[in-house]
Amino acid sequence: MNVILLGPPGSGKGTIARLIQDNLGIRHISTGDLLRKEILEGTRLGKQIEPVLASGKLVDNHVVAKVLSKAIIGAKNGFVLDGFPRNSEQARILEKILRETKQKIDLVLELKVNDNAIVQRLSSRRQCEKCHRVYGLNAPPKKSGVCNDDEGKLFQRKDDTPIVIRDRLEIYRKETAPLLKHFSEKTSVEKIDAGKSITEVYKEAAKKISGLGGS
Ligand code: AP5
Repeated sequence: MNVILLGPPGSGKGTIARLIQDNLGIRHISTGDLLRKEILEGTRLGKQIEPVLASGKLVDNHVVAKVLSKAIIGAKNGFVLDGFPRNSEQARILEKILRETKQKIDLVLELKVNDNAIVQRLSSRRQCEKCHRVYGLNAPPKKSGVCNDDEGKLFQRKDDTPIVIRDRLEIYRKETAPLLKHFSEKTSVEKIDAGKSITEVYKEAAKKISGLGGS
């Protein structure tokens, strides 16, 4: 089962994808996490892309595609894509990778939530630098500043400031949201009210995945 989560920054893509991975065994692939890993490890690519992520702009399509295709090839039991594709060029790149690996997208889940909730959620988000687990007001860590799973240090993303959040929302509306029409002509696209609690949103997503034969 291959699923794409499409939704604005802060709609909960990473949170829900992680729950799908933990409960349904479908691999969570986040291009944002893969790119931030390069930055945290201080690789050449990481140094090159760090200012792009901090500004909220998109990294070059072919750079992201390279990082992504390795992850897709490694996901033998299907994947939940979080953060890719983000524009029509990336949708074409994804379709090429899927053709080459003889796979298809079974379901696109659109997470819908209003802008005020997004700004509030992102301003208080913290993330584990080791395992990328996300925390927030509604999902705090047991011990402040420390990850529940591996005791990794929690950090605040540089792009989680109100001005950069507005820019990211603008990019989402202009470049990513139009992909919903593109996918609706090719596969099943379902909407979810992501303004509800994390548990309710996850249950809804899991129901839609199970409805298509996912575990
Ligand atoms: P990326 O990491 O993909 O960020 P994003 O798409 O902006 O999405 P976010 O991670 O901000 O939000 P989310 O929807 O995952 O929400 P989350 O679950 O964390 O990309 C970052 C940057 O990397 C881009 O700007 C770009 O520079 C680069 N990049 C990445 N992919 C790229 C690509 N394909 N091409 C080019 N560049 C790329 O939740 C947010 C908060 O809300 C958390 O605190 C959480 O606890 C809380 N929360 C979640 N759900 C709920 C709920 N239902 N109720 C209450 N709180 C909730």
